[in-house]
Amino acid sequence: MSSQHENWGSRVGLVLAMAGNAVGLGNFLRFPVQAIQNGGGTFIIPYLVCFLLMGIPLLFVEWSMGRFGGRRGHHSTPFILDSMSKFAFWKYIGVFGIFTNLAVAAYYCYLESWALGYVWNSIAGMFSGMSSDQVAGFFSDYTSLNSAEPIIFWVICLALNTWILSRGLSGGVEKVAKVGMPLLIAFGVILAIRGITLKAGHDGAIFSGTAGLNFLWTPNFSTIWEPKVWLAAAGQIFFTLSVGMGSIQCYASYLRSKDDVALNAMSAGWMNEFVEVVLGGAIVIPITVGYFGVDGMIELVNKAGGLGLGFRTLPYLFQQWGPILAVLAGVMWFGLLFFAGITSSLAMGTPIMGFLRDEFGWKRESSAWLFGALILILGLPTVVFFNYGVFDEYDYWAGTVSLVVFALFETILFAWVFGINRGWKEITMGADIKVPVLFKYVIKFVTPVILGAVFIGSLPSIMDTINNTAIHEQLAAATDETTISTLKKTIFFKNISRFALLAMWFSIAVAVAIAYRKRMREGRFTNIEA
Ligand code: PHE
Repeated sequence: MSSQHENWGSRVGLVLAMAGNAVGLGNFLRFPVQAIQNGGGTFIIPYLVCFLLMGIPLLFVEWSMGRFGGRRGHHSTPFILDSMSKFAFWKYIGVFGIFTNLAVAAYYCYLESWALGYVWNSIAGMFSGMSSDQVAGFFSDYTSLNSAEPIIFWVICLALNTWILSRGLSGGVEKVAKVGMPLLIAFGVILAIRGITLKAGHDGAIFSGTAGLNFLWTPNFSTIWEPKVWLAAAGQIFFTLSVGMGSIQCYASYLRSKDDVALNAMSAGWMNEFVEVVLGGAIVIPITVGYFGVDGMIELVNKAGGLGLGFRTLPYLFQQWGPILAVLAGVMWFGLLFFAGITSSLAMGTPIMGFLRDEFGWKRESSAWLFGALILILGLPTVVFFNYGVFDEYDYWAGTVSLVVFALFETILFAWVFGINRGWKEITMGADIKVPVLFKYVIKFVTPVILGAVFIGSLPSIMDTINNTAIHEQLAAATDETTISTLKKTIFFKNISRFALLAMWFSIAVAVAIAYRKRMREGRFTNIEA
């Protein structure tokens, strides 16, 4: 039933869509927070090393895997992986490539809808004249669902995603990327210039923007050997490049069989890094440091959590720039977050759609609607029980742990089962650049070893999370009734979320098993040996 004759419309469109997939909320919200929590200059070296030794190799692997699978009519990871070996086992590893996208989309679209809601509130002048506590309180009210507004924006956001996905790749996703990406970069450049040129003593700033840049860019070797910093750096590289997710393979499966993957992968990957370290690094950190200093910023992050800076703090700081600039900066900041978000959430929708269309002959429209409906159901707990850590739980298991697990398996499949020689041919076939041969060895030896080390290194913290160690410690120290009851509820909701995620993984695995039987019945053998 592999009747999907869909392709990307143009090379520019493809690269922008792939860059849009990668450039997301991760670049503007997650990156600064990871950098802050891991010491600024201490973080950046492991981060760049992880980009070179895991990020780039995985981009080559995933793009070429996707094109390989697409040539055989597969558009989602279960059967893309299946087609690369004769062992039935791999298609179940491919389950991760659908699961992760759904589970991440479930909380990500909510975050994306905040950006939309905040664009609206910035235009409406909602934050003008508010004190810093009031702006922070606005966010608490928002996430506590004290009005229907957050739900309305969330549903609008889901409907938009569904509608665009139902228009297809060249007719929907590509068009959004062509408009959204240039706008995002333009807004980002303007805000970054503003961040960097912030002057101490002007507009209420106490420090210059350069103080924030120094924090991020002064290499610091004191804690460079701490595993925690390396895990955070690796996790950020995965999340930001969208590797280990399955969405790159899916997008790449719609390439034409002779299309270049090497140059395209590098264009999209480096564009993401530019947006992350240059633009993403020059907005939140310099502006916050300008008003609160480095220590003040670290305190804010520790107190209110990572996402707080972008939503609790910046709208207040923009007010210091006068009424007109405040509205403009708000619209640009939240507008760029929204574009960054939607071009990523669209990518998360495509794997399940590809799977349903390939295996069960679904139409594009109906598979897009199913995605929207699934995100509504799976996302609802993250919306309603946001304050009980459901959101964070999804992010931890789907947006962090699963990525490393999937990337480790797919690299082994690519380099050792499929075979690096065949793999290398896939990477270099039709390539418009000469890929340094060094990468052949990096993919075969270095990447899997580092991935394995990252995974083993994170086992203790995975165990702590499973046991809710940190919350139990807080519980032991808590004295007042409300804190105790909140903490108990948090444990309850976190455990439930884990079961929900597991159930989701197994449901997808069952769907894959059914699809496989159907293929056998219809005599559609797909792996390379058959
Ligand atoms: N890379 C995106 C970001 O930085 C997140 C993403 C995850 C995109 C999964 C696609 C699939 O925000």
